[in-house]
Amino acid sequence: MNNSISNLKKLISFNNRKILIIHGSNSFKYFLDRSIIKNFLKNNKIQYFKKKKEYPEINELKKLIINYKKFKPDILISVGGGSVIDYLKLCVKLSDSKNIDKSIEKNLIHTKKKTFISSYITTAGSGAECTKFSVVYKKSKKFSYVGEHVLRNHYIYDREAIKNLPKKLRASCAFDTFAQCFESLLSLSSNNQSIKYASRGLAQSNKCLIDYVTKPNNLNVSKMIRATIYSGKAINISKTNAPHAFSYPFTYFFGINHGSAVALNFLQIIDYMYKKKNFSKNKIYIEKRFKLIFKILNVKNFRSLKQKLKNILIKCKIQKKNLIKRSKINNNLLKIINNINIERLSNCPVTICRADMVKIVKKFD
Ligand SMILES: [Fe+2]
Repeated sequence: MNNSISNLKKLISFNNRKILIIHGSNSFKYFLDRSIIKNFLKNNKIQYFKKKKEYPEINELKKLIINYKKFKPDILISVGGGSVIDYLKLCVKLSDSKNIDKSIEKNLIHTKKKTFISSYITTAGSGAECTKFSVVYKKSKKFSYVGEHVLRNHYIYDREAIKNLPKKLRASCAFDTFAQCFESLLSLSSNNQSIKYASRGLAQSNKCLIDYVTKPNNLNVSKMIRATIYSGKAINISKTNAPHAFSYPFTYFFGINHGSAVALNFLQIIDYMYKKKNFSKNKIYIEKRFKLIFKILNVKNFRSLKQKLKNILIKCKIQKKNLIKRSKINNNLLKIINNINIERLSNCPVTICRADMVKIVKKFD
């Protein structure tokens, strides 16, 4: 957090620079309203790029890169949450690409000079500020672009904005953090370091998630931010797995916020994983990781874990029945199943066949 304050000081010390600000609409006013920021905006040459899409999307990214190349900023700043941070990273990493589609599809790396980038963060959820990945959608397909490393460790959290997010977004972001830690612990690509981060993040988010969603205050906001950082660091190593893999078509086709889309099938997938573990070659691995999760979340067994998860979903109002109608799922079943992200699914310790994907998606309890 102190890091956040010194980063803000560094940012506002800039003078006579060309600055491109990529922002969303939700909490941008908090950024503009801060007197310290008003001076900073006056002292530099600013150009704004407003994100219109709910999620990072390739055509919008191309427009951003055109603006970036024309304006040639010295500094890039994102103001908002995970999507604008993704745009910020993608813009810097792909501005030298001759063919953006191909670069994203094949994850091509482009060498380029380091650009000073800063994330002014108004949500506590995705941990995108701590990951090397950037999500981008091309039509209904979701890509996770890695590309080369860029200077990206400069971020500032606006606690007021995070506290005053609409409840629906607080629930979505907070659950994203919780799910990322949970999934990280079960991911096949996890290691000792990611387990350490994910365990801390899960314990921390377990303590503050419901409080932050239902009655946000300075203390639970700070705890939530800490949990978010751990979740980002954990998935930067382990990546996410099945609940994230299932979430993308729900965001793309129905506009459901990212964390809520992760919550949508979370219970059903975790239940499936636990039941299927006995038939998996990873049985011992899964049992060990679930045991760790029980310990962190202070539950005795799987039954109490499910009860705990249900309670979180109810309190945050992100149960499946609150997010989507059965008829919508039944009418769009094929396109949902076809757009589940196979790459993320391969990180899941149990194999989920297509017939079981259908069962999971159709299950509502
Ligand atoms: Fe996420």
